[in-house]
Order: sequence, then C-alpha cells, then structure tokens
Amino acid sequence: MIELAPSILSADFARLGEQIRAASEGGGSVIHVDIMDGHFVPNLTIGPPVVKSLRRVTKLPLDCHLMIENPDEYIPAFAEAGADLISVHQEACRHLNRTLHHVKDHNCLAGVVINPATPVETLSEVLDIVDYVLVMSVNPGFGGQRFIPSTLHKIRRLAEIRRQRGLSYRIEVDGGVALETVADVVRAGAEILVAGNAVFGNGDPRKNAEALLRAATEAALQKV
Ligand code: DX5
Ligand code: ZN
Repeated sequence: MIELAPSILSADFARLGEQIRAASEGGGSVIHVDIMDGHFVPNLTIGPPVVKSLRRVTKLPLDCHLMIENPDEYIPAFAEAGADLISVHQEACRHLNRTLHHVKDHNCLAGVVINPATPVETLSEVLDIVDYVLVMSVNPGFGGQRFIPSTLHKIRRLAEIRRQRGLSYRIEVDGGVALETVADVVRAGAEILVAGNAVFGNGDPRKNAEALLRAATEAALQKV
C-alpha cells in the first residue's frame, strides 16, 4: 500500500493545523515532521512542544524524523509529545541497536534512516528489528532540493533483501519526491512517500497531495 507523508517543513508554520488538514483531505495519511538540531544537519527546526500541538490538530500518525545528535536523549520527549513513528539516522547512532530498542520501548514504530552516501549494507544487523527504513534521496537539512537518482538502487535493494530474508519493514523515501520523480521511487519499491515542497510549496496542498498520490498509485499499478 502506497502512503503519502506530507512534510510540514515546507508548510506555513503560522498555519500548521490548517495546512495539515488540507494535505490530509488530499490523501496524505502520515504527517512527516523534520527535527533538526543545527549539528547533525546545518539547519534548525522544531522540538517536542510543536509535536505536542500537532497531536491536538490531527489524528494521523506523526512521523518524527530525527536529524539530531544524541537522539537517545530526546526519544522519550518526542514519544511523550505524541509521536507515533520515530526514525533515527544510522550516521548519528553509535549504538544503533540500543537506540532502536529505545524507540520501541516508548511504544513508537522504529525507523532507521540512511543518507545518500550511506550504503544499505550498513543496516544488515538491524533490518530484523526496524519497522521501517527511510532512504534519504537528498542530503538532509533543507526542503526543496533536487532528487538524487543514484539513491533509487538502495530502495530496490531494500525490497530485495526484505524478500530474501522474509522481513516486513516498510520502505520510506524522503527528498525531492515530486510529480517528475514519484513514479521512479514507487517502481523501485518505496511505500511511504515523504513530500514537502511538492505538497506545500506552491498552490493548494489538497490538490497537490491528490495529484501526487494519483501519480504514485498509477505507477504502483504499472509495476510488474
Ligand atoms: C530534508 C527533510 C525532508 C524535507 C523534504 O532534510 O528530511 O523531509 O522536508 O522536502 P522536499 O520534499 O521538499 O524535498
Ligand atoms: Zn524528513
């Protein structure tokens, strides 16, 4: 099943409730929340208080993508604020197994994220404990960047490994997903599609989400 996860990074932060409602009316079914600390990535965004406010305006699952150093320290606060899914970067975790269990212990689905330069092979020892794997298709830190096509083979590889090993993690993709690129990521095997700029950048988020989801669903039907 293909799901669209609108990323609020490109939304109007003064009207988050309204913008989330519009994107969900267009078919967005997971709300992607980018947490940046100015250290792991060169940008700053939001913390648990905003997640807590988002929790009050939507029933959709909140997918917190932690682009921060020392994620262990903040996992309890995000879980408490209302996160349903929490993903951590392989590159930021010295004890990745422990951190992923920390997420699960807080009753959230646990995801692991890899940057464009990080190989899928670095995840081989945690694929059996994660609920989802997030493949970054841009270098994290900013919305509206250009999709990096060389990341597609990692989505294919993750789908292949899942089949071979009989695992059940879902595959999420994040960065540069738009009408021009969505068919490629879906055909490669991505199931949760994060889109910021393509939903909130220009025009009506509801219509943008609808168009993106339609293109994704068509590509999924064409997949052999
Ligand atoms: C980038 C963030 C993304 C971002 C994607 O570091 O992780 O979630 O919002 O934005 P677009 O879809 O505009 O590339
Ligand atoms: Zn993200």
